[in-house]
Amino acid sequence: MSSYFIEKSNQNDKPLITVVGIMGKQGLSVARTLLESKQFRVRGITRRANSAEAVELIKQGAELINVPLDLGHKAQFVAAFLGSYGVFMVTPSIAPPHTHEMELGKELADAAVEAGVKHILFSSLENVDRITKGEKFAPHFTDKALVEEYIRTLPIVSSFIYMAFFYTNLMEFYTPYLKDGQFVFPIYLPKDFRAPFVDPLTATGPAVLEIFTNPAEYAGKSLPVIGEFISPQEMVDAFVKVTGKEAVYSSAFTREDFLRHFPGFASNESLINEVLGMAAYAVEFGYFQKDKDLSWSRKINPGTLNWEQFLRTTGWQGEKISY
Ligand SMILES: NC(=O)c1ccc[n+]([C@@H]2O[C@H](COP(=O)([O-])OP(=O)(O)OC[C@H]3O[C@@H](n4cnc5c(N)ncnc54)[C@H](OP(=O)(O)O)[C@@H]3O)[C@@H](O)[C@H]2O)c1
Repeated sequence: MSSYFIEKSNQNDKPLITVVGIMGKQGLSVARTLLESKQFRVRGITRRANSAEAVELIKQGAELINVPLDLGHKAQFVAAFLGSYGVFMVTPSIAPPHTHEMELGKELADAAVEAGVKHILFSSLENVDRITKGEKFAPHFTDKALVEEYIRTLPIVSSFIYMAFFYTNLMEFYTPYLKDGQFVFPIYLPKDFRAPFVDPLTATGPAVLEIFTNPAEYAGKSLPVIGEFISPQEMVDAFVKVTGKEAVYSSAFTREDFLRHFPGFASNESLINEVLGMAAYAVEFGYFQKDKDLSWSRKINPGTLNWEQFLRTTGWQGEKISY
């Protein structure tokens, strides 16, 4: 497929991209960007094809198919992928002790090949197990890397994006709370450690559009998607500046601190180990390895939001948000 083909084609001939997890943060961003580009048709799989957000997507031109993003649905994945030029593929967050992320990734990839899809774009991450020689426990990274390795063996063009930590984690999972009139931000990273963060809802789509529009350029590539490298203290400072509210950082980096802030995790030892393992990996080994191009996503999408711009555009005031 060339951009010439895309420009010349009429509505029905536009290449079809099927988005796995279309109602998730990455999926919504991809669907909206591809539809706005008017270069692709969009199909998506979800269990929530009747939700208000789904109806909105359908109005914008997406076709939604009811399939759960879970094991044992390969025939439905194949049917959903039929006729697609490309598949944008995510695996969902799977909390331990469940461990089927790799198996699900393989099932989706096999289904794409069986359906005759030309290009898989998978949202992958680094192989923490290999990089740390088994020292750090972050299966939701390593399992994605293993899915990526598997996809690379299949007879299909493949490309990979590696999302930075989501800004939305602070809204959705590690939400600040009010204490003595000020917001306390319990963050799973050390106060002054600059880590890569990104807004999945606006940054994923442009990266995916760029790759699907230039498949030859990006075949076989693994590309980070980053908003900015920022420390927890800088995130809190920006929150104070933008909202005018008082706020402080509080460490959730050590096991003791993490459990003090999130006692609800105490019942799931593997999940604690996974969150702490991921954070320790990022601090000691770097979230992205040295072979990755850290400037690519901001070069192809100069409008990528940094944290302060994200706070201004969302108007977030510190409340818990569910996506
Ligand atoms: N948080 C971070 O900082 C970060 C950074 C990098 C990568 N990631 C990775 O990003 C992925 C999540 O991406 P996202 O936030 O875009 O997606 P998401 O919102 O977590 O999930 C995407 C879709 O997966 C489906 N889903 C989730 N759990 C399911 C289940 N148990 N059974 C069936 N379907 C399920 C849901 O589909 P329905 O529409 O059917 O409900 C949901 O819309 C995870 O793999 C995570 O490891 C996260």
